[in-house]
Amino acid sequence: MRQPIIAPSILSADFARLDREIAAIADADWVHVDVMDGHFVPNLSFGAPVLAAVDRVTDQHLDVHLMIENPERWVDDYIAAGADSVTFHVEAAADPVALARRLRAAGVGAGVSLRPGTPIEPLLEHLGEFDVVLVMSVEPGFGGQSFMPDQLDKVRALRAEIDARGLDTLIEIDGGIAPATIGAAAAAGCDAFVAGSAVYGAGDPGAAVAELRRLAAAER
Ligand code: DX5
Ligand code: ZN
Repeated sequence: MRQPIIAPSILSADFARLDREIAAIADADWVHVDVMDGHFVPNLSFGAPVLAAVDRVTDQHLDVHLMIENPERWVDDYIAAGADSVTFHVEAAADPVALARRLRAAGVGAGVSLRPGTPIEPLLEHLGEFDVVLVMSVEPGFGGQSFMPDQLDKVRALRAEIDARGLDTLIEIDGGIAPATIGAAAAAGCDAFVAGSAVYGAGDPGAAVAELRRLAAAER
């Protein structure tokens, strides 16, 4: 099996020092960029200009997570700003498959995310349209919340479907991932792991990434 993908979320970084905060996770596989619009979620983070600034200071894969309404209207800005993959919420998109095709046509990875209360079943037949399925293991909107273990049922259903059909869609998990929880997520079948507070709340973010990677690899 492939090595786990560790994706620190810069939502938990010091925004005044983003260049240094990103340099501190230079060994991470992806940089997870949480975009919140104050409508789809009750919090506001940053938008495409900040993504463009991040893109200027790193060659890492920029994994953009759009927690916004009407993603169809905004994705082109994030593609232009340097996103390598764009994940939108299935609850917010009018036509998720059409939007995924648009992203792929632009040369960007297509991801779809589900809130904890959103069932996976309607998406299963369309899995081949997506490079990533992002399972939220907290209610989106804020870093630092507690992991919801019941979301791993969704991960297991996805893993079974992806393996049965020989797809290369990645399963990513986001919310409450820390040394105490990443093993269970890896054992359930996740490929990619977002961690905000567990990385940037650690004294040494780079060491935290390495430790999360080791713990995930041990369970996969
Ligand atoms: C939550 C965001 C997450 C968040 C993760 O809405 O999508 O990416 O930053 O933060 P932690 O790892 O602290 O739960
Ligand atoms: Zn996220």
